[in-house]
Amino acid sequence: MEILARLDAFLKEAETGIKHADSLKATEELRVKYLGRKSEITSILKRLGTLAPELRPNVGKAANEVKIKIEALLRDRIEELSNEIFDGIGRRERIDITEPGIKKETGHLHPITRMSMEIEDIFTSMGFTIATGPEVELDYYNFEALNIPPDHPARDIQDTIWTVEGSLLRTHTSCVQIRTMEKFKPPIRVIAPGRVFRYEETDASHEHTFYQIEGLMIDKNISVSNLIAVMKTMLRAVFRHDVKVRLRPGYFPFVEPGFELDITCLICGGTGCPVCKGSGWVEFLGCGLVHPNVLRMGGIDPDQYSGFAFGMGLDRLVMIRYGIDDIRLFHKGDLRFLEQF
Ligand code: FA5
Repeated sequence: MEILARLDAFLKEAETGIKHADSLKATEELRVKYLGRKSEITSILKRLGTLAPELRPNVGKAANEVKIKIEALLRDRIEELSNEIFDGIGRRERIDITEPGIKKETGHLHPITRMSMEIEDIFTSMGFTIATGPEVELDYYNFEALNIPPDHPARDIQDTIWTVEGSLLRTHTSCVQIRTMEKFKPPIRVIAPGRVFRYEETDASHEHTFYQIEGLMIDKNISVSNLIAVMKTMLRAVFRHDVKVRLRPGYFPFVEPGFELDITCLICGGTGCPVCKGSGWVEFLGCGLVHPNVLRMGGIDPDQYSGFAFGMGLDRLVMIRYGIDDIRLFHKGDLRFLEQF
């Protein structure tokens, strides 16, 4: 019988179509195509009354069976597809659980930040607290209160970047010494990490923008031996082994006596390279006993109290720790360099 053969072919076509439906949207389209108002099965069922009476029961039964089978096929396929994962635009995603995952890139701290945090830990374990000060400073805190009057020759040591309003970008963290003395009374034990700026030409060991950590300790009877003890403790904690250091007289108007502390150049092992300018030594920090005039400017009586101060270059410390031969690499933003830390 022709209609029964057509129903059979119709069911086979629907079976293949539904099996290959690859999205929920596709199954809905097939439902409309095979069971909708304009589908062949609906038209056969509608025309049932026009068939010869003896054909009606067989055709009607076969058409209903095909309809029920297609409904079941669609239901099963929808359930299968619902258990699969789809991407944002409805395409099926195939999951290969053996495929290695995509590594998520995460940022990390800059080596100078890490070193700064490490030094902060070392000093806080010795009872120091952390102080801060502004990067745009007043002449008073950067120079005058530090015993550097306007016509003092020491102003030439630190080439200064001035703002149009007459403020300046601090040339060292020593300004925080005065700000701390204004706020706290002795005993004082602070360190002040921060960015400093100098109008100078750059080379392998000099930047115009770099980091320093200032240290200040004021109490009764503080002497150079306290300074040396604290420096030694810090250096041992940073390098985890003994590093050769040398102390030589240094002139800073805000300390008396003043010293420069150099460490042996670990880039070249002391034989001479561009970082140490062939000397085998790297200037690491300036230090000394706080000048009585500075204590006075900070409102502290120099007859009762004394103190030491130091200011070290953080960039140079990181260079020595990791064997970096050019300070300019720190702020170039070159990920090939930064990702090594
Ligand atoms: C000072 O800045 C003083 N304020 C330090 C000080 C503090 C002395 C307290 C006494 C008491 P100086 O200019 O030497 O000093 O700089 C201190 C350290 O900063 C140097 O030892 C060096 O490690 C680092 N430094 C100086 N100039 C640069 C530069 N252009 N680039 C990178 N690091 C620098």
